[in-house]
Amino acid sequence: MKLLVINGPNLNFLGIREPAHYGKETYADLLEKIQNYCDEKHIDVAFYQSNHEGDLVDRIQQAYFDQVDGIVINPGAYTHTSVALLDAVKSVQIPTVEVHISKVETREDFRQVSYIRAACISTITGMGTDGYLLAVDKLMEHLSHGD
Ligand code: DQA
Repeated sequence: MKLLVINGPNLNFLGIREPAHYGKETYADLLEKIQNYCDEKHIDVAFYQSNHEGDLVDRIQQAYFDQVDGIVINPGAYTHTSVALLDAVKSVQIPTVEVHISKVETREDFRQVSYIRAACISTITGMGTDGYLLAVDKLMEHLSHGD
């Protein structure tokens, strides 16, 4: 199984930005944690992070040509604004799980909208960085059952 983990704007600042919301683990810690988890499960995983909406669209489209089986995405603030990311996920038709480190549903009103959610098989919020591992599990389950 080939997975792609995409992180949007400011997630490269994990460990620095608002630790009360996002914890103390750094972006490098996050990648190591996901990589170790995927190694244990013999999953081929690639990572991408960008602060730029169009670059995120390009990377999602590239996943189509790379024949990626599943995408884990934390679109950061673009969750709440980006129809382009929604359309990109719909375009490639790759099973995708939306992840948020913080519990977005208990935060500001503007975080209550997620455009990308409509194209995702599942959403995980408020589980810290473990949410990414749960997303990997969701995709494995989905891909093995074909549901
Ligand atoms: C986030 C939540 C978003 O509202 C925010 O803009 C982020 C991170 C999260 O992981 O909790 O950048 O996606």
